[in-house]
Amino acid sequence: MAGKRTFTMIKPDAVENGNIGNIIQKITDAGFGISAMKYRQLTTYQAKEFYAVHAERPFYGELVEYMTSGPIVAAVLEKDNAVEDFRKLIGATNPAEAEEGTIRKLYAESIGRNAVHGSDSDENAEIEAKFHFGQEEFVN
Ligand code: RTP
Ligand code: MG
Repeated sequence: MAGKRTFTMIKPDAVENGNIGNIIQKITDAGFGISAMKYRQLTTYQAKEFYAVHAERPFYGELVEYMTSGPIVAAVLEKDNAVEDFRKLIGATNPAEAEEGTIRKLYAESIGRNAVHGSDSDENAEIEAKFHFGQEEFVN
């Protein structure tokens, strides 16, 4: 269902800071349905693979270390125009530049520890959902 689905992770800093509930509330208040959800600890191998597109970036090592520093919540979300609307809801990568009321403005600590992930395209949403949920059937 192109255009209707996105993938998110509540990242280790937000889990650690007790913000799982607050973030899920923001997501459902914004009109997203939850099609699948999982609480899990990523291995180094999995985090490297998930963020392989950033392998050449200077922050890659730091990113992998952070993403494996504690459990995350992975979820598939559904809504019309899901990818774009969710990126708006989470705000800029750097919370200092994120708009008021966005999830990163409210809950992120820094550009490196920025509370949530959001897919950047329909294609990547499908790839990322599959990465975490394999062939599982989604509720929506
Ligand atoms: P995400 O993929 O997690 O939703 O974040 P994004 O699209 O807003 O940003 P992206 O460019 O894809 O970067 C992925 C993640 O890498 C970390 N990062 N650290 N220290 C730094 O300069 C830096 N830059 C990026 C962040 O955790 C970012 O979300
Ligand atoms: Mg990204």
